[in-house]
Amino acid sequence: MRAVAALRAVKVRAPAKINLHLAVGATRPDGFHQLATLYQAVDLYDTVHARRDGSGAVTVTVADAAGDPVLGVPSDGSNLCVRAALLLRAHTGLTTTGVALHVLKRIPVAGGLAGGSADAAATLLACDALWRTGLDLEALLGLARRLGSDVPFALVGGTCTGTGRGELVTAQPAGPRLTWVAATSSRGLSTPRCYAELDRLRGRERARVAELPTALLDALRGDGAGLVDALLTTARNDLTPAAMALRPGLGELVRAGAQAGARLAMLAGSGPTVLFLGADRSHASRLAAQLLGRIDVDGVHLLTGPVPGAQRVG
Ligand code: C5P
Repeated sequence: MRAVAALRAVKVRAPAKINLHLAVGATRPDGFHQLATLYQAVDLYDTVHARRDGSGAVTVTVADAAGDPVLGVPSDGSNLCVRAALLLRAHTGLTTTGVALHVLKRIPVAGGLAGGSADAAATLLACDALWRTGLDLEALLGLARRLGSDVPFALVGGTCTGTGRGELVTAQPAGPRLTWVAATSSRGLSTPRCYAELDRLRGRERARVAELPTALLDALRGDGAGLVDALLTTARNDLTPAAMALRPGLGELVRAGAQAGARLAMLAGSGPTVLFLGADRSHASRLAAQLLGRIDVDGVHLLTGPVPGAQRVG
């Protein structure tokens, strides 16, 4: 029998996500909110490089595409990648194997595009390959659920419904390719703050049930041709009033994109990224150029989806 050579390094990339619909229901006893969301993975990726560390240490460094440090991402034990590696290690009973993780960050931090969740999902896959722990998707999803609400989706990718607190994902037909412009801000918005603001705005209002519109699901499960029309009529992100209260300029940006010809303008997750749907890629490029000139826009990305979830690339 041939011995399996130990791997020294593994590279995994994981995609950003957008929510084609985000309905937020009642606050649960654990403080999380009931969600009904339609996730889609888009072609903006963080890449996690994992290198074996014989000392047993689990460490992380983070840099952007220019090699510069990234503000707002911790490099201690609170980093989601470190937590993911330690969780997988504890789950599999390994104790002495370490890993040096390096994250190449392209997904804006605290931008509403689930970049931290992508990094956690990529780390789970990378360490599973590096340490040859051979977990199946169900086991990885179980760990992902413990790391964050959006982490399971980052593993699966494509187009999925998300229920529970977002962590219960069910794959759906991919639907047609959609191209969005994401207008990003260098000042992130904290997701817990956004949910807390939503609670404050809702006050004593009766608890709501989060549901996805039947028209949206029917359009997706048919031949997909009606998806854009269904999106235009049902588009909703319940975090919008909260994000706009915390970042008053966002409403103006949404209006500007709609005036510039976007088919749809909506907040990405808990913001502050705003998404503008283009008719096609060249229309989206023109929209992006217009938005980039605005003082409240620090960057633009053309995002196309759906794409697969976390994948080994080296
Ligand atoms: O699950 P995750 O760690 O990504 O969530 C970050 C924060 O967002 C939570 O601590 C909570 O404040 C808020 N959240 C929520 N309801 C959800 C998902 C997230 O209140 N369904």
